[in-house]
Amino acid sequence: MTSNDPFSLIDTSVAHPARRYDYWLGGKDNFAADRASGDAIEKIYPHIRTSAQQNRQFLRRVVRYLVTEAGIRQFLDVGTGLPTAGNTHEVAQEVAAECRIAYVDNDPLVMVHARALLTSSAQGKTDYIEADVREPRAILASTAPGGTLDLTQPVAVLLVAVLHFIPDDAVAEAAVKTLVNAMVPGSYLVVSHATDDLMAPDSVQALADGGHVSRADTTLRSRKQVEGFFAGLDMVEPGLQIVSKWRPDPGAEHLPDEHMSVYGGVGRVP
Ligand SMILES: C[S@@+](CC[C@H](N)C(=O)[O-])C[C@H]1O[C@@H](n2cnc3c(N)ncnc32)[C@H](O)[C@@H]1O
Repeated sequence: MTSNDPFSLIDTSVAHPARRYDYWLGGKDNFAADRASGDAIEKIYPHIRTSAQQNRQFLRRVVRYLVTEAGIRQFLDVGTGLPTAGNTHEVAQEVAAECRIAYVDNDPLVMVHARALLTSSAQGKTDYIEADVREPRAILASTAPGGTLDLTQPVAVLLVAVLHFIPDDAVAEAAVKTLVNAMVPGSYLVVSHATDDLMAPDSVQALADGGHVSRADTTLRSRKQVEGFFAGLDMVEPGLQIVSKWRPDPGAEHLPDEHMSVYGGVGRVP
C-alpha cells in the first residue's frame, strides 16, 4: 500500500460523517465506529434516521426542481456523501442527460466509491474533486476554467448537510460567500443544515447533556443563522423550511415538526 493509495488514508476506527449518514440511510458502506456513533446519537435523538432520510429526499426534489423548472444544467455538489440511490447526476441526467456535475468531498472513502460509481451519461459529465469546503478557492480552481463546469453559465451550488460540519460561523459564511460570488446571475445556492430549533425540549436537553457523542462533529444552527447563508439571494418559494416541507411530493407522509432536525432552502443569485 503506497501513500498515494486512497485506502491508506481511510481510518475505520473513527466515526466519519459520510459513513454514519450511510448507516442512517440503511446503506452498507459503514464500519463499527460509524454504527456506534450513529446509535449513540439515535439514542439521544430518536428521529435522526427520519431526518437523514428526509434530507436525502429534499436533495432529490431540489435537483429535480432545478433541472425541470429553473433550467439548471450544472451542479457543484459539495459534501457529496457516499453514493446511494438517487445521486445528484442520476436525478439531473434523468431529466436532462447533458447535465454536468462536479462532486466535492473531503472523505477519502467517498472519493474511492464516487470515482467508481458516479459515472455520467454519455452526453453529460461528472467529476470528483477531493477538497474541503473550507477551501472554496481550491474547489473553484479545480472545477474551472476548462474543467467540468463553465462558470460563465449558471451553476447550482449544493451544500446539502455539510455546513454543520464547520463549527466556525465565520469560516462557514466565508465559504458560502466565496462560492456564491463566483457564480453568474441565475445561479442557485441550496443549503440544508441541522438544527435543534424544532426538537422537543427533552431532546435538546439530552443533546446538551450528551455533548461528547452528539456534538463532537456537528454544529446545530438556528433558523436565523441558516437564513444568513442566503444573504443577498432571492429565496425560492416556499423559503427556508424544514426539509420535509420544501415542495413535498404529492401525497407525501406528514411528519410532526419535532421529528425533523434539518432546515433546507434554495436561493437564486440575482
Ligand atoms: C451527511 S453527508 C451529506 C451527503 C449529501 N450531501 C446528502 O445530503 O445526502 C455529509 C458529507 O459532507 C462531507 N464533509 C464533511 N465535512 C466536509 C468538509 N469540510 N469538506 C468537504 N466535505 C465535507 C462528508 O464527508 C459527507 O460525505
